[in-house]
Amino acid sequence: MNYRHGFHAGNVGDVLKHLVLVLLLEHLTRKAKPFAYLETHAGRGLYDLAADAASRTGEHAQGIGRLWGRRGLHPAIARYLEVVAAFNRAEPGAVADELRLYPGSPAIAQALARPDDRLVLCELHPEEHEALRRQVADDRRVGVHRIDGYQGLRAFVPPPEGRGLVLLDPPYERPDELAAVAEALIAARRRFAAGVLAAWYPIKASGAHRALRSALAASQIPKILEVELTEASAPAGAGAGERERMLGSGLVILGPPWRLDETLRGLLPELCRLLFPEGGGRWRVEWIAGERPATGKR
Ligand SMILES: C[S@@+](CC[C@H](N)C(=O)[O-])C[C@H]1O[C@@H](n2cnc3c(N)ncnc32)[C@H](O)[C@@H]1O
Repeated sequence: MNYRHGFHAGNVGDVLKHLVLVLLLEHLTRKAKPFAYLETHAGRGLYDLAADAASRTGEHAQGIGRLWGRRGLHPAIARYLEVVAAFNRAEPGAVADELRLYPGSPAIAQALARPDDRLVLCELHPEEHEALRRQVADDRRVGVHRIDGYQGLRAFVPPPEGRGLVLLDPPYERPDELAAVAEALIAARRRFAAGVLAAWYPIKASGAHRALRSALAASQIPKILEVELTEASAPAGAGAGERERMLGSGLVILGPPWRLDETLRGLLPELCRLLFPEGGGRWRVEWIAGERPATGKR
């Protein structure tokens, strides 16, 4: 377990993941009945972008850094920015909010959950777990568990609330992680048909990520939406190193809220222009299993 999210906090992948997360959580808050939020690979919760890890890679500059301070954005992008901005309110007397802290998914869920909603967070790494535990310490809505995320999924799903959101966001250090995610999503879906289940995945030039889509398509589970954001792909015949290069990322969403596909299609052209100002950004929203025929649009 070498992966530390601090090196990547606020990068392009986080922007896509957390923007979708805000949309999914806000959908759940539209009904009065409490919901459960379960995360299998939670990370430490809140990231200091001036700290050693984040400042060494600087990845956030090409992610949240490209959106920071922008006005007149699509309402869903603006809402995501507002959630991040709430962690970065300017000191009294300062001219503007400075981007210093980046909220991970647990902090975003904590910010949007209501008093009777519940958060169940699994994180296996001892230091990340301890940091997360400190981060949420006095919030009685949150349970933090130092267990394997896939084990947590089996233990905590379905939640007694009968409604909720499950997020799988593993580090993809294991060579079989895509298969593990597909298997875990399918098994969890069978136990929790009323919930929304989402998983983030990296997109490499090799196209290995397509195994996740194939496994889900073969599962016969209805209503699975896929959203991807990448830079232009590598030329065909690229060498082995190039094939491992990360081009972007995506999310699969099982049981997405009604019209999430339309919302995403409405905001992604703008997000793409902001994150890839030189051009070269690509996006896809496609049903792996519909509701509707799979007609992805660029
Ligand atoms: C991509 S990061 C999570 C980032 C977080 N979801 C966010 O968006 O803010 C993946 C996390 O999974 C943790 N991890 C690795 N293997 C795990 C396992 N088997 N079970 C639970 N957590 C694990 C890592 O320590 C790391 O903090």
